Amino acid sequence: MTHILAIDQGTTSSRAILFDADLRIVATSQQEFTQHFPDSGWVEHEADDLWRTVAETCRDVVARTGVDPKDIAAIGITNQRETTLVWDRDTGEAVHRAIVWQDRRTAAFCRGMKPQEEMLTAKTGLLMDPYFSGTKLRWILENVEGARARARAGKLMFGTVDSYLIWKLTGGRAHVTDATNAARTMLYNIHEGQWDAEICGLFDIPMEMLPEVRDCAAEFGTTDLLGPEIPILGVAGDQQAATVGQACFDKGMLKSTYGTGCFALLNTGDTPVTSTHRLLGTIAYQLDGKPTYALEGSIFIAGAVVQWLRDGLGIIGQASDTQPLADKADPQQRLYLVPAFTGLGAPHWDPDARGAIFGLTRGSGPAEFARAALESVGYQTRDLLEAMKADVGDLGETVLRVDGGMSASDWSMQFLSDILGAPVDRPKVLETTALGAAWLAGMRAGVYPGQAEFSRSWALEQRFEPKMEPKDRDTRYAGWQDAVRRTLTRQG
Ligand code: G3P
Repeated sequence: MTHILAIDQGTTSSRAILFDADLRIVATSQQEFTQHFPDSGWVEHEADDLWRTVAETCRDVVARTGVDPKDIAAIGITNQRETTLVWDRDTGEAVHRAIVWQDRRTAAFCRGMKPQEEMLTAKTGLLMDPYFSGTKLRWILENVEGARARARAGKLMFGTVDSYLIWKLTGGRAHVTDATNAARTMLYNIHEGQWDAEICGLFDIPMEMLPEVRDCAAEFGTTDLLGPEIPILGVAGDQQAATVGQACFDKGMLKSTYGTGCFALLNTGDTPVTSTHRLLGTIAYQLDGKPTYALEGSIFIAGAVVQWLRDGLGIIGQASDTQPLADKADPQQRLYLVPAFTGLGAPHWDPDARGAIFGLTRGSGPAEFARAALESVGYQTRDLLEAMKADVGDLGETVLRVDGGMSASDWSMQFLSDILGAPVDRPKVLETTALGAAWLAGMRAGVYPGQAEFSRSWALEQRFEPKMEPKDRDTRYAGWQDAVRRTLTRQG
């Protein structure tokens, strides 16, 4: 038993990553799938696409490496969080497409629920926003004919993506999830560690349809997808898996992952911090029945802004063209792109805001757009860190650990360090999400070392130090704040 298979089911693609006994990546298989946008602000995935791409990439990675499936000790799963699925207990068929975390269709319902926000935040750590699964699940129960009655009769099941995949992988034998995914539903009390009857009552969600919640390293069932039965021993939402993969195990450690969106998590130890600056309280990971909490800042559009330059504007052919194009931008021009394409997340939480660009002149062109797009990611990260400081006080010596696709861009990471006025650390392994899932499963299987030794294996590839003049930094950031203010539809 020498290998661990990590499944990373993300927003735009599914990946299977095979790790060896030394936690090194042997091979990766990846498949993109179709995004559905049936209405303004709506985003859906076909449940079958999620399952098919996961199954195919798992089979492919094993076939390509020639590793005997009998040598795979365990599977770890990490996933896009909050995305909501409801399926039939008997047939396994989803009753509706998955409603994706970015989807804003429940914005009006959330506005109506504002009076309940204090209670909801106190219990779940979250804010009243369409982002989370609870209102998406309610929408499915309201809009799919007969769904609520079938759910009450125990015929329908709810799950986030991890839960749905485990159901499929185990042939319907396990309806389970882990604490980090449960913490993103808005139905789970993160202090008591259980589904909350009052909230389920408020959203009219039958509790029969909720999965059983386990630790991140636990027995989630076994699968014969690759032939022999292989246990699923690790599960965590992708941002939490990245926190684990970055070895942010001590209180005060901070990571930021640049995927479709950007998610910064600050480990707050064994006490949940209730944010007073519009951040989220959440579970970073749960081991041996003991949750470790985090303060999270969630930005909806980070890497996706580069996709928009490619697919929306057509000014780049591929993501790697962005930096050379941005380098050609006129330094005299100060454009601000606020990528509120699906509203704004933390710390503004304005689901109705839409993207805007400020500072255009006759001389503005593709290069200035590219630079403004990359800079928007740095500015938004600073917004999150400012809110974190306001919540927990000075972050002191805390160094931001970065990962995810965009962290490979030196230009973006240098700008990030410049605009934060603080160092930014990029590790040697940028695949921290898959690494976190693999470690959870492998540690449980006894293949990988414990937490302390795993922490020591974290290795720095490059530290970015701020080079920008403080005055320049302040002027630029003030310009960004002004641009955001003008984009908001209301005070968040
Ligand atoms: O909360 C949404 C997040 O889990 C999605 O992550 O990597 O697909 O952008 P990603």
